[in-house]
Amino acid sequence: MSDETTPTPVEERDDELATEAGEPEGIDQEALERRSAALSQVVKFGDPVLRSAASPVTEFDEGLVAEADRMIGLMRDAIGVGLAATQLGTLRRMLVFQVGSEAEPTVLVNPEIEWRSEEETTTAEEGCLSLPGVIVDVERPLHVRARGVDVHGEPFSIEASGLEARVIQHELDHLDGVLMLDRTERDQRKGALKALREGGTYAPESDDEHEDQTPGGPGREAEEPPVTE
Ligand code: NI
Repeated sequence: MSDETTPTPVEERDDELATEAGEPEGIDQEALERRSAALSQVVKFGDPVLRSAASPVTEFDEGLVAEADRMIGLMRDAIGVGLAATQLGTLRRMLVFQVGSEAEPTVLVNPEIEWRSEEETTTAEEGCLSLPGVIVDVERPLHVRARGVDVHGEPFSIEASGLEARVIQHELDHLDGVLMLDRTERDQRKGALKALREGGTYAPESDDEHEDQTPGGPGREAEEPPVTE
């Protein structure tokens, strides 16, 4: 630690968490530049569009296909696992997600959660491309069934569990103007808002250092790295 007179939370942050909340590890300079270019197109916290409800898509034309492709490209470049149209400032009910580099990206238009495992929930860390540098714990149903249509207007439904279910719920929240901050506990929300205001970073206390204060209780997925959506 330095002995300078103006210590900031940024200087004191844990290196590992700082990495998770900021630049991902193990990617080259070119990928970092692509990521930063993609992130510059994502609407950030404070913009009222993130608090607005998106409208259903009614026209399934080439423009929609192009918009979906653009979203997938930006999500990948940003090294996120999901992206909602709202995050690009477009108030249309459309989201994309891709959980794992082997998986195919999925586009879901006019999505709805048809069923969620209300009794079976899990708590894990989430990040958001619109809330850079911030990670919070969010409790969500472990399993969901979502339905919607694809970019051509063809109906389809998807059953998802774990991280995939989490991403779908996080992105669907965006379409309703809901952020992960609204779904975390009060202390974490306060910490995250402070970081967003001051341009710092925030992450919940590490389990390793505070084993007896596990915020999420028994359902917590301690092994799962935070995801950015
Ligand atoms: Ni998000």
